[in-house]
Amino acid sequence: MIESDFSYLADLIKQRSGIVITKDKSYLLESRLAAVARTYQLDDISGIVQKLRKADRALEIDVVDAMTTNESLFFRDQHPFDQLRDFVLPKLMAERKSTKRIKILCAACSSGQEPYSIAMLLKELGPKVAGWTFDIQGTDISRSMIERCKRASYTQFEVQRGLPITLLVKYFEQQGQEWFLKPEIKNMVKFREFNLLEKLTPLGHYDIVFCRNVLIYFDQPTKRGILEGFAGLMPSDGVLYLGGAETIIGITDKFGAEPGRRGIYRKAA
Ligand SMILES: C[S@@+](CC[C@H](N)C(=O)[O-])C[C@H]1O[C@@H](n2cnc3c(N)ncnc32)[C@H](O)[C@@H]1O
Repeated sequence: MIESDFSYLADLIKQRSGIVITKDKSYLLESRLAAVARTYQLDDISGIVQKLRKADRALEIDVVDAMTTNESLFFRDQHPFDQLRDFVLPKLMAERKSTKRIKILCAACSSGQEPYSIAMLLKELGPKVAGWTFDIQGTDISRSMIERCKRASYTQFEVQRGLPITLLVKYFEQQGQEWFLKPEIKNMVKFREFNLLEKLTPLGHYDIVFCRNVLIYFDQPTKRGILEGFAGLMPSDGVLYLGGAETIIGITDKFGAEPGRRGIYRKAA
């Protein structure tokens, strides 16, 4: 790939999504944009860049979409979900007795396994949460991922990763090669396209924010802007979940680590 095409694409992707692509990752551009070039009947990456320079918005969206990494799985890392059930929810429920309502945001939720894992976890709590309302909102920049979330259908491979067989049998229905989530879980989650580079306030207020395994793709100022944006959406006892390779340390003081609880952060006083 010629230098000017790399710089143009890396700048555009960073500007539109925050995703930083360094020179050593230029092979990712080559491999992921090959399919986009075919869809638009362009010869190669140079053809994509030429078309983008003429401000082709549809192509721009597809290029950014192709450069997102959408890896996700049910109950990813398990312990965040155990802590949600055994520590975060009991504490918040004790503090929300008067409203009996808890709002949860799963930002950058990819194909939906994270918010649907939370929905199954809540359903499994049964009588313990009777009379409570849980609003679960999933968001992602990728249109194709949000379409997948809304379809709520997963392959055999996907349902074998992280999902206990008991939950598979209880909450999914097999149709051919696909496993569809039953409406009782599917209807617990709402989805919308949302770019975390935008002002976050239109998302509303949330008691719990999951933002896992996406900040790793951003530079420090972008991470800080997003984390401080989340702080603005959360009450003083709000809880933030980050991925295993992510932290607030050295980035913002709007959150503090929850002692002894890996990956969980509380809003700073
Ligand atoms: C690796 S997945 C993480 C999925 C899930 N949170 C998890 O931990 O399993 C990263 C997701 O971040 C999304 N993403 C990347 N840049 C984004 C942005 N600027 N705004 C919103 N979502 C973004 C991607 O589309 C992708 O689906």
